[in-house]
Amino acid sequence: MEGPNDLVFDPWDPAFVADPYPVYAELRARGRVIRYEPTDQWLVPHHADVSALLRDRRLGRTYQHRFGHEEFGRTPPPPEHEPFHTLNDHGMLDLEPPDHTRIRRLVSKAFTPRTVERLRPYVEGLANDLVAALVDNGGGDLLTDVAEPLPVAVIAEMLGIPEADRGQLRPWSADICGMYELNPSEETAARAVRASVEFSDCLRELIAARREEPGDDLISGLIAAHDEGDRLTEQEMISTAVLLLNAGHEATVNATVNGWWALFRNPDQLAALRADHSLIPSAIEELMRYDTPLQLFERWVLDDIEIDGTTIPMGSEIAMLFGSANHDPAVFTDPARLDLGRKDNPHISFSAGIHYCIGAPLARLELTASMTALLRQAPTLTPAEEPTRKPNFVIRGLEGLGVEVR
Ligand code: HEM
Repeated sequence: MEGPNDLVFDPWDPAFVADPYPVYAELRARGRVIRYEPTDQWLVPHHADVSALLRDRRLGRTYQHRFGHEEFGRTPPPPEHEPFHTLNDHGMLDLEPPDHTRIRRLVSKAFTPRTVERLRPYVEGLANDLVAALVDNGGGDLLTDVAEPLPVAVIAEMLGIPEADRGQLRPWSADICGMYELNPSEETAARAVRASVEFSDCLRELIAARREEPGDDLISGLIAAHDEGDRLTEQEMISTAVLLLNAGHEATVNATVNGWWALFRNPDQLAALRADHSLIPSAIEELMRYDTPLQLFERWVLDDIEIDGTTIPMGSEIAMLFGSANHDPAVFTDPARLDLGRKDNPHISFSAGIHYCIGAPLARLELTASMTALLRQAPTLTPAEEPTRKPNFVIRGLEGLGVEVR
């Protein structure tokens, strides 16, 4: 899809992925809803529309609570993908009420803001240790040395994953997350299926062990959680644990490195932050807006809706462009400018409505801990080279971020 000045919305094009924001401006100028044939979706680029649609109950992350595949005009996934769908479709992120409400309520009982707050000393201690090692080495890769180990260890610790299985979390998660890109290939699907089988087996064993001998971890909490007679089924428990483990680190890793790369490209802003650490909370929100870690979320249209005079019929799929919404000048003054002191910042990087990120307080705690440790212990942190971007569009990240501490 081309526009003036050769701006092209092509999520498979590395040039677009390198900097999608000018193309988003073009899409917003084109209209409120744009038909996109390559993915058979309707693109929604404006903040007001994304924000409203996230709260609109005529849309859903699934349609299977109301329609069969054929009835909804869709082909069922091939049977060989079944292990991925069994795992994915029983997690709250891919459920709608009433199942979503029941599971989210049960998980919220185990995953409370208090549980997160209790983790603060552990998260801060770990961030300090990881950054101290980076400083001792005179630098390294911010991704593998700090951004990744922090959230992976925290979420593994929360769920009580044994040390021996922790090394698998990143590869399993990466393979499963391949399915969240647009039009995944057969090879991606095969990898996701294999990871789903292995990850599910690992969790099934762990749940059985915790049933025998409960601990004070989140898995034991999920087993114990009940609410007016409701409980999680075995499959829901497995799917919830995997969702928490994957969602609990993927975006945080990317938000950390995208954020630091944005700071390095805006030295005046980095200098202001180094001079005034009280900017950290607004800086974290602004970095999440400025380079949005998760660029697109989809919804199925369960009942016909109308956007700007266009009827989007039941059975359609909508792709909400979070990165575009976060750069919409109707909401953000001078959106292309990184402004760490930005006061009014209603970014939608954590979504809105019933699927609003349950891990947002944990993500903010982790991002604050690593940023504070890096500002305090590595005040001269500089990039060693220009990083390579991951080719993925939806889950936006870097292959690594080489840094030096002089
Ligand atoms: C910077 C980090 C993070 C970002 C940008 C992020 C973003 C999001 C977004 C956009 C959604 C909703 C998607 C939609 O509406 O379709 C979501 C849901 C979710 N997130 Fe996060 N997230 C982050 C960190 C975390 C962490 C640390 C956890 C840890 C436990 C977590 C767990 C979840 C879960 C379980 C859901 C599903 C909620 C539901 O369906 O009701 N996320 N997240």
